[in-house]
Amino acid sequence: MTDRATQLLDWYDRERRDLPWRMEPGQNADPYKVWMSEIMLQQTTVASVKSYYKAFLEKWPTVQDLAGAELDEVLHLWQGLGYYARARNLHKCAVEVTRQYNGRFPEDEKRLLDLPGIGPYTAAAIASIAFGNKATPVDGNVERVVSRLFKVEEKLPKAKKKLAELAQTLTPQTRAGDFAQAMMDLGATICTPKKAACGLCPWMKECEARLKADPTDYPRKEAK
Ligand code: ADE
Repeated sequence: MTDRATQLLDWYDRERRDLPWRMEPGQNADPYKVWMSEIMLQQTTVASVKSYYKAFLEKWPTVQDLAGAELDEVLHLWQGLGYYARARNLHKCAVEVTRQYNGRFPEDEKRLLDLPGIGPYTAAAIASIAFGNKATPVDGNVERVVSRLFKVEEKLPKAKKKLAELAQTLTPQTRAGDFAQAMMDLGATICTPKKAACGLCPWMKECEARLKADPTDYPRKEAK
C-alpha cells in the first residue's frame, strides 16, 4: 500500500500539464518565474495567464529588470489581467527583492511574507516550487480536494485551519513543489467543483467523500 503523497506524485508524473513556468519533474524552478506565475494565477485562469507570463518575462527577464521598469509600463502590460493592485505590488516587490536581497528571493517563508503582495499562499508556493522546501500552498482548489479526501464536515470558512493542517500532513518531505502543483492540477482538472471525474483520480480508492457520500457536496459551506 503506497502512501497518498506517492499516489499523487505518480499520477502527476504521468499526467502533469505542461505549463510555461514548470520545470521537469523533480527540478526546482527560478523563484522569479514562480513568483510571477503565482501572482498572475491569483483570480485568473491558467489559459489567460500564459500569454501575459510570456510577455512579462520577455520584457523583464530578471527581477532587477522589473525593478528598473516604470510602474506605468508594468500597469500597461498588465492591461486585461484585472485586479491592478497585483501589478502595483508586483513592481513594489521587485524593487524590494532587488534592494533588500540583491535580486535573490529569500527562501524563508517568513521573509517572503514580508514582501509586498506575498501572502501565505504565495509564500508557500515559492518556498516549495522554487526552493523545494516542505511548504504547502493552500487555495480554494486544495481546500476542495482535501475536504473530499477526508470528508470534512466542518463548514467553510471555519474549516480553513483544519483543511490547511490536513493538507500539510499530506505533504511529503521531498518533492513538495511537485506535490503542491499536483494538488493544483487535481483540483483544476479532476476534483472540480460541480462535477468530479472520480474515475480518473489517483485517490479514487481512498477518498472518503466518494466512498461514503457525494464528493460534490464538499467542501461544506456556511449558508450565505
Ligand atoms: N494555479 C496556481 N498556481 C498554479 C500552478 N503553479 N500550476 C497550475 N495551476 C496553478
